[in-house]
Amino acid sequence: MLNLKKIKKLSDLDWKDEKVFLRLDLNVPIKNEKILDLSRIKAAIPSIEYLNSNGAQIIIGSHLGRPKNNKEYSLAPVAEALGGLLKKEIILIEDPVSDTAKFLLPSVKKNQIIMLENLRYIAGEKNNNSELSNSLSKYITSYVNDAFGVCHRVHSSVNDVPKKIKKKAVGLLIQKELQSLDYILSSEKKMLLALGGSKVSDKIALIEAFVDKIDTVIIGGAMAYPFLKAQGKEVGKSFLEKSCVNTAKKILERFKLRNKTIILPTDHKVVFELNKPEDIKTVSEIPSSKMAVDIGPLTSAAFKNELKNVEQVLWNGPFGMFETKEYSDGTINFAHDLSKSNVTSFVGGGDSSSAINKSGVAEHIFHVSTGGAAFLEYIEKKTLPGLEVLI
Ligand code: 3PG
Repeated sequence: MLNLKKIKKLSDLDWKDEKVFLRLDLNVPIKNEKILDLSRIKAAIPSIEYLNSNGAQIIIGSHLGRPKNNKEYSLAPVAEALGGLLKKEIILIEDPVSDTAKFLLPSVKKNQIIMLENLRYIAGEKNNNSELSNSLSKYITSYVNDAFGVCHRVHSSVNDVPKKIKKKAVGLLIQKELQSLDYILSSEKKMLLALGGSKVSDKIALIEAFVDKIDTVIIGGAMAYPFLKAQGKEVGKSFLEKSCVNTAKKILERFKLRNKTIILPTDHKVVFELNKPEDIKTVSEIPSSKMAVDIGPLTSAAFKNELKNVEQVLWNGPFGMFETKEYSDGTINFAHDLSKSNVTSFVGGGDSSSAINKSGVAEHIFHVSTGGAAFLEYIEKKTLPGLEVLI
C-alpha cells in the first residue's frame, strides 16, 4: 500500500523561481475539433494557479488519445480551451523534445504558459526511455505530477522523468483523488458496487478484490452478459467477453456462499442492428437474433431500490451504449437516482463520469474521479506506479 505521507505535496515545497514540468492528464474527448467534456481541463486549473501564484514558471505536458503519427491528436484545441479558462496565452511547442521551451522560458510573460505538444508524439514516451528526461533536464528544476488518469502507466513523463528529478510533488488534483479513494478503502459503511461498461476482463478482477468490502453488486451493460451466460441465459448477439464466463460463474458462487447479493438485469432494451435505434424493444429475455443495448425499466427500478439498503456507492461503467440517446435511459436514470439518494457516491471512469456531467448532477456526487483505469487500479492495488516514483 502506498504511503502517501512520503510524497511531497505542493504546500510542502518552495516554488519561487522554479521551472516546473507539470504533467497533466488533458486527455479529453474531442469530436470534429470540439471538446465534448472539459472536466479534466478544469480539474487541472488549481495546481496551475497554485504554482504560478507561488512564483514558479510551468511547462505543461500531457498526452491526448493514442496517436499513430504526429498529426493525429494535437493538443491545440486543448491549449485554446485551457488558455480561455485561465485567461492566459498558452504557447504550444510543436516538438515536445526540442530546445524551444528552454529558449523561450526567459521571455515568457506572466500571462503566458508554455505547453508541449502531445507527449505521445515522442517515440520513447510509451517505452519509458530517456528522450524526454534528457531534453527537460536542460531547463527544468522540478517536477509535479497532477495527471491522476495516467498514473497507472509506466510512461516516461510519469516514470523516467520524475525518477531523475529530485524536487518533485503531487498536484492538488491527485491529492484530492487519493483522499477520496482512501476514504472508500478505509470506510466500514455498507457499500454497493455498480459496474457496467465494456472492459469486462479489466473490471471483473475488481469484484474479486472487493468481495469482502461490498454488500451488494449491481451489474449492467456488457459487464452483465458473462454473468447471464454463466446462469445459462441467452444473450443473443450482445457484446460478450466469452473468456469471462467462467470467472463470472465463480463470482456468483462466492457471493452465494457469503450471502451477498449480485443483481443482474431482468429486462433489456434490444435491437436487430446497432444503427437502427428506431427498432428498439424492451424484452425480458434477449432473443438469439438481437443484441441488448441498455437495461430495461424493471432493472432500473431494481437498481434504484438497492440504493435504499446501502450507505455508499462506487460506480464504474455505463449500463448501455449511452452515447446513443435511445440507448441511454438506464445509465442516465441511474445517475439521477444516485444524485437523489442519501448515499455517498464515488464515480470513476470516463463514461460514467460523462453520464454524471450530462445529467447535470455532479454537485450531488461526493467524488467524480478524473481517472478511469487508474481509479480502478488504485482501488484494487492501493497504489499506482506513477505515485511510487514520487517518493
Ligand atoms: C485515460 O483516459 O484513462 C487516461 O488518459 C489514460 O489514457 P490511455 O488509456 O490512453 O493510457
